[in-house]
Amino acid sequence: MTGRTAPCDARSRRFSREWATRALVALALAAALALAGCGGSDATEAELERLELAFENADVTLGSEVFGDSCSVCHGSDGSGGVGAALGGVDERLTVRDHLAVVWTGRGSMPPFSGILTDAEIAAVVAYQRSTFGDEQ
Ligand code: HEC
Repeated sequence: MTGRTAPCDARSRRFSREWATRALVALALAAALALAGCGGSDATEAELERLELAFENADVTLGSEVFGDSCSVCHGSDGSGGVGAALGGVDERLTVRDHLAVVWTGRGSMPPFSGILTDAEIAAVVAYQRSTFGDEQ
């Protein structure tokens, strides 16, 4: 009897260890995904639609202030660039949606502004950049 049950017990212990390992791996993956979701991930469709709606009523004067406070340090107050990209002709390179998305999620060494600026401020600064630097090439 014992000769038959002992291997079974050993096998079930091995199974439960494997199961525990898998559960830990799954937990670690879930945690990694949750962390990735907190910053640097792509804007969701809902977020982009919200920003596009805000863009329809964008306040360019507010945008000018936001640019001076949050962007000019890298992009230059005249948009000629520096640490950040030169912004001349930005409206030719980026659609409104892509422009909003860059500011929301950041790109390369540019930080994301989601959670730092409000939707209205992001929409405003995008409108400001497109109208102020848009005609240059
Ligand atoms: C810490 C520096 C830094 C700050 C602050 C910063 N940017 Fe940037 N930005 C960058 C860099 C660097 C790039 C180029 C990213 C890349 O493509 O690698 C960039 C790219 C961009 C682009 C894309 C330009 C193009 O032609 O594709 C836009 C638009 C932009 N930034 C807007 C903004 C706005 C709006 C703000 C302020 C709310 C801002 N940035 C603040 C560094 C910065």
